[in-house]
Amino acid sequence: MVTIVVNGVQREVQAPNDTPLLYVLRNDLELSGPQFGCGVAQCGACSVLLDGKEVRSCITPLSAVKEKEVTTLEGLPARWAKQKGLSTSEAANTLHPIQEAWIEEQTPLCGFCQNGMMIKATELIERVSSPSVAEIKAAFTTSGPSAHLCRCGSYTAIIEAVQRAATAMAKGRA
Ligand code: FES
Ligand code: FES
Repeated sequence: MVTIVVNGVQREVQAPNDTPLLYVLRNDLELSGPQFGCGVAQCGACSVLLDGKEVRSCITPLSAVKEKEVTTLEGLPARWAKQKGLSTSEAANTLHPIQEAWIEEQTPLCGFCQNGMMIKATELIERVSSPSVAEIKAAFTTSGPSAHLCRCGSYTAIIEAVQRAATAMAKGRA
């Protein structure tokens, strides 16, 4: 039995230490945000935050997340609510500004890659409150083990959604 913390909740998992985190999240904890794309850290579809840093859960063994905080797409609203100090009832009706921006900009096409895109955007904006286009492009292309890939070509909409979310988050923090 391994104890991990996912989206602020302690979870007991019965799986070998070398099980990919992605399998644990999807199969054991029924969190369907992270997607299985390539399985070898080359697409970004499976991304989650590990202590606030984007990692590829398809190559992250369960043993690597003990005593660390895992945040999946499902946990972004609560993450934002906590950062903003919202009450439990307010938090229940709140989306993360990144999710709101993705809706406003109608960013997803097929949607398959968008989990990783929103996780990467969260990491970026928590680190750089008002990223330039160059910083956004760098975050999605050269900051990790590979670029975040979108077969549908939603890259322009992603940049616009990141900028919209950054503006909203800056206001929300004021
Ligand atoms: S499924 Fe993990 S990077 Fe592609
Ligand atoms: S929206 Fe289809 S792969 Fe990105």
